[in-house]
Amino acid sequence: MFEIFENTESEVRSYCRKYPVEFSTAKNAEMFSREGERYIDFLAGAGALNYGHNNPEIKSAVMEYLSRDSIIHALDMYTEAKEDFLTVFKKDILEPRGLDYKVMFCGSTGTNAVEAALKLARKNTGRTNVIAFSGAFHGMTLGSLAMTTDQTSRQGAGVPLANVTFVPYGDTMGIEYLKWLLEDDHSGIDKPAAVFLETIQAEGGINVAPVEWLRELRELCTEHGILMVADDIQVGCGRTGYFFSFERADIVPDMVVLSKSISGFGLPMSLLLMRPELDIFKPAEHNGTFRGNQLAFVGAAAAIRYYNAHDLGAAVQKKGALVEAYLKDAICALDERISCRGMGLIWGIDMSGIDKAMAVKVMRACVKRHMIIEVAGRGDSVLKILCPLTIPEDILKEGLDIIRDAIVEVLKEYK
Ligand SMILES: Cc1ncc(COP(=O)(O)O)c(C=O)c1O
Repeated sequence: MFEIFENTESEVRSYCRKYPVEFSTAKNAEMFSREGERYIDFLAGAGALNYGHNNPEIKSAVMEYLSRDSIIHALDMYTEAKEDFLTVFKKDILEPRGLDYKVMFCGSTGTNAVEAALKLARKNTGRTNVIAFSGAFHGMTLGSLAMTTDQTSRQGAGVPLANVTFVPYGDTMGIEYLKWLLEDDHSGIDKPAAVFLETIQAEGGINVAPVEWLRELRELCTEHGILMVADDIQVGCGRTGYFFSFERADIVPDMVVLSKSISGFGLPMSLLLMRPELDIFKPAEHNGTFRGNQLAFVGAAAAIRYYNAHDLGAAVQKKGALVEAYLKDAICALDERISCRGMGLIWGIDMSGIDKAMAVKVMRACVKRHMIIEVAGRGDSVLKILCPLTIPEDILKEGLDIIRDAIVEVLKEYK
């Protein structure tokens, strides 16, 4: 059935191996196969579809733009679409949050924005080394891969991945270790240019950094003149119940990278935000043909309008509370070795207390029940909930019931 893919597409393909379905259409949190079978989407394009598949308000802006022979590609020339995006992003996202950032359009993927941030941090400080955290995922090109910890990703590099010092994530030991690295003149570590931070590690297994930890890290960076770079590629754009994930800790990073859901419509786009004084790249010093994806700009402006018009931050916090209660009452209650963590609409169900392999089994049982869902973390031992933020409450509940039923089925193997 999937011969053309299996014979012609590279072996590197991955998600399609977990979901052996050929998809055709999709609406909000539902995807439909060629045969018209319905799947509930608890993956949302790995966070690229926060506003749902074919969000009608975003789609109509994109279609209206397409319908009038508008500019589709323009390198980084000035265009109406870019002007509208920059205006709405500044007025409706940055200014209300008191954030004073310049905006750099990077290549079309998240990893390109991470590379830009790495280069800019090094250029600003004249230093090479950077700090990243155990469990981090920052992308697949060499600079970001060097800061990514999972061995499957790293083994594809083909060259040594260097100039990064890793620190334990999210706990006192990590902060104490980092302090020691920075303060002991015999620690043997060169002073870093930057600390790259996910406030919640998504691929790392839904690890939520405590607010106090984030604040201490911010202070440490300031004290030592190290740039704090927030990678909000997966947990930004409203995922945590705030537009930027770091808002919950009331901290301001020196740079922020955004991608995935920033275009609102699943179109490729990435941004690097930086404090104005850090904006020292010379013209064309981080160039790229696809930094001017006009359709993505149109989607992105429409998405911000949607976010504010529908008070999506509050809606996510409300749905997040529903998920939290369900996980506690109906899932963790199934077996005391199951634990759940997350916030907003990113949650992890950790089954490693029973068996590291259990989450993958549960994922397969969910797919059998027509749900698209992914695993994350060490040994893929955490089932990851990442539905569109716009998911209707009845479908959210239906999806959670599927997960519960799948866990009940798999648990029988362990009794
Ligand atoms: C936190 C984080 N950073 C960077 C990336 C890389 O983004 P992309 O796959 O668009 O290159 C990802 C992708 O999952 C991510 O989750």
